[in-house]
Amino acid sequence: MNGFDSVTHLIYLAVAACFVLGLHFMNSPATARRGSQLSAAAMTVGIVTTIAVLAKAHVITGTGVAVLASGLLIGGAVGLWMARTVQMTQMPQLVSLFNAAGGGAATLVAFVAILAEPGGINHANSTVVVATLLDVAIGCVTFSGSIIAAGKLHGVVPGQPLIFKGSRAVSIVLALVVVAGAITLLTGHGGMPVLVAIAVAALGFGVTMVLPIGGADMPVVISLLNAFTGIAVAMAGFALDSLVLITAGALVGASGGILTKLMADAMNRSLMAIMLGGFGTSDTAVGAVTAASGAPVRQSSADDIAIQLAYAERVVIVPGYGLAAAQAQHELVALANALEAHGVSVSYAIHPVAGRMPGHMNVLLAEANVSYEAMRDLDEANAELPIADVALIVGANDVTNPAARRPGSPIFGMPILDVDKARSVLVIKRSMGHGYAGLDNELYNDPKTGMFFADAKAGLAALSAALKEYVH
Ligand code: TAP
Repeated sequence: MNGFDSVTHLIYLAVAACFVLGLHFMNSPATARRGSQLSAAAMTVGIVTTIAVLAKAHVITGTGVAVLASGLLIGGAVGLWMARTVQMTQMPQLVSLFNAAGGGAATLVAFVAILAEPGGINHANSTVVVATLLDVAIGCVTFSGSIIAAGKLHGVVPGQPLIFKGSRAVSIVLALVVVAGAITLLTGHGGMPVLVAIAVAALGFGVTMVLPIGGADMPVVISLLNAFTGIAVAMAGFALDSLVLITAGALVGASGGILTKLMADAMNRSLMAIMLGGFGTSDTAVGAVTAASGAPVRQSSADDIAIQLAYAERVVIVPGYGLAAAQAQHELVALANALEAHGVSVSYAIHPVAGRMPGHMNVLLAEANVSYEAMRDLDEANAELPIADVALIVGANDVTNPAARRPGSPIFGMPILDVDKARSVLVIKRSMGHGYAGLDNELYNDPKTGMFFADAKAGLAALSAALKEYVH
């Protein structure tokens, strides 16, 4: 190993260490931004080092340089534009599209690596063949699955579970094609056409895997596909013998896997049940929901709520997707500040899957300068709610639905925020409309619940105005 090689290896090691450190910083919202910046800087150093290695080895042609430069420029510009213009509420779709890009890129890398093998895939060593097979299969499933997931979240593909007759059989046949193709290649037969057949079958499998999954399970699927992207990238690293790719891929795969498990636990759904799909297609106890829905709903006005809040000692605010959709975080914090100035203790109860992506509510509230100390996780919030005078729910629905406690409900077993244990419950939303899981919320028929039908932004502004008037 010459001096240049030693230096590049050390740089790659430092880059890998920065990725690990960056992930560690992301453990806490207070240091997450630093973690993100450190990882991005390390990635830039990794790219520049790789370009230097290619230039030194003189293996890159003029066309290669042009392709690399245009890839960097176009990809970088599109990434920057998307990251700057995307709405907070569209972030999950963006993550899903990035997953698709990662899976697709890893697959292309595997094809290029195998085309560069002197004797083709049939004469490559077994490590390269196994890495290529896993890369192509997982990368293609991730690519097509992530595009469907992004389409579902963006509303261009119907969000509810899409199950057609024989869909399970199609999935099984596609999986068998992938397995049979892999066995053929591992025994030294087939060649490139078989690898292409595996890619096509895996692309189809990604589609049939995600279509039947809907409702509240989509975040878990996106996280799982994120883990798949990491594994595909790590496999591309094995095919290219690249330490940095292997490390980065393994980190994404492992952290995505852990996040998937945590989210599945937060919804009390096994990964197998999620992947089998069909969630939200039926509520076996529909009668009970309908009967509850028939019960009267108590409407409250801004003045009623302002008086109730002003007399409270402890208010727990439950933010949800509607708060993000209305971009009402600043109005919410203005109301909370006014309450605190009036001597009311205010905290924020954050359900792990409130909103449309992990940490959605934390990011939203942090943007409005809510301190991390005021945010409660599920367990802390459920310990506080029984001693709260008011649970003020703003644009949240599924994460407060008591149906989760009722056997037979599609969300049975999902941990919820126990808002109905507070002395009184106030809900701000525009209508009796459903949340993401498409279920009636029995909380709205509870006699202790008051409904304030309004857009979150306008409703919170009206509440602040009413509170100000009342207090003065
Ligand atoms: P949801 O159950 O989706 O309910 C949001 C509610 O906000 C709706 O019922 C809607 O009612 C209301 N709303 C919408 N726009 C509003 C506005 N401008 N002003 C006021 N209210 C508005 O939200 P949640 O309680 O946060 O639960 C999240 C759900 O999304 C869960 O089912 C979860 O599994 C799923 N999900 C989560 C994630 C992650 S990782 N967090 C990702 C994907 C899906 P109206 O139409 O009546 O106003």
